[in-house]
Amino acid sequence: MGKNVTRWRVGDRVAPIFYQNWIAGPYREAYGPAALGGGDADGVLADLITVPEASLVRIPDELSVEEAATLPCAALTAWQALVVRGRVAAGDTLLVQGTGGVALFGLQIASALGARTIVLSSSDEKRERAEALGAFATVNYRATPDWDVAVRKLTDGLGVSHILELGGPDTFDRSLRALAAGGRIAQIGVFTGFGPRSNLIRLQQINGTIDGVNVGSAEQFEAMNAFLVAHRIKPVIDRSFAFDEAEAAYDELASGRHFGKLVIRF
Ligand SMILES: NC(=O)c1ccc[n+]([C@@H]2O[C@H](COP(=O)([O-])OP(=O)(O)OC[C@H]3O[C@@H](n4cnc5c(N)ncnc54)[C@H](OP(=O)(O)O)[C@@H]3O)[C@@H](O)[C@H]2O)c1
Repeated sequence: MGKNVTRWRVGDRVAPIFYQNWIAGPYREAYGPAALGGGDADGVLADLITVPEASLVRIPDELSVEEAATLPCAALTAWQALVVRGRVAAGDTLLVQGTGGVALFGLQIASALGARTIVLSSSDEKRERAEALGAFATVNYRATPDWDVAVRKLTDGLGVSHILELGGPDTFDRSLRALAAGGRIAQIGVFTGFGPRSNLIRLQQINGTIDGVNVGSAEQFEAMNAFLVAHRIKPVIDRSFAFDEAEAAYDELASGRHFGKLVIRF
């Protein structure tokens, strides 16, 4: 630990934030290059890393270090989308795409706020697990490629008030059709690529909003941790791998077999 560090003591349980310089307030483009493993900075798959003391957040005593390792990116992204930007409240309806990390944190956070979540999944087994975790309904997006129609039916023809858009170009227009009037789409993911291909007239016709969402700040991370503890939310970890199995962990991630998060242990 650096000799001028005042906020931390040896042995404190902490997690780094993704955008090392985004401590509080709105996002600034200048934060991009210091994203851990993103811009010009190394990632965290290492025995030791150095980060500024302000770029660390205390992790809840209620969570193991493995559970806390799932928070800095996937959980905080869902938090920013649903709470900071989306202001989800009881009675709202959320659609999440798939059963990966961001989607399941979205489901857990929305449920704790009293909102109902519809989960899309290509696997009927994962749909059952999502229902056990609190999903109001699930739709198999392979068996039902017109899932926007199914989502409207499940919401009495209205559509959902919030969507975590994780697919990108191949899912965005369907999301727009599944969105209720006045609803919000959080643009987060790129499962199907980066190129936009959207009918924004529909957005205008329904007075909808798109929030571009990029992880979150240290201040948002701390607020999220308090919420997770208050609502006894435990991250869903599918499997954890030893450090020297990191390659297998990435293969598993690419396979899409996982439900929730994969973790690499030290
Ligand atoms: N903007 C940000 O700040 C930010 C932060 C974190 C992640 N992301 C992005 O958000 C996305 C989700 O990240 P993640 O870590 O949660 O992913 P993940 O854990 O790898 O999620 C994988 C799951 O997503 C589902 N999926 C894949 N393709 C799909 C499609 N075309 N339609 C619907 N579901 C699909 C599958 O679920 P089933 O097996 O159930 O079908 C798959 O198992 C990624 O694109 C990631 O790069 C962005």
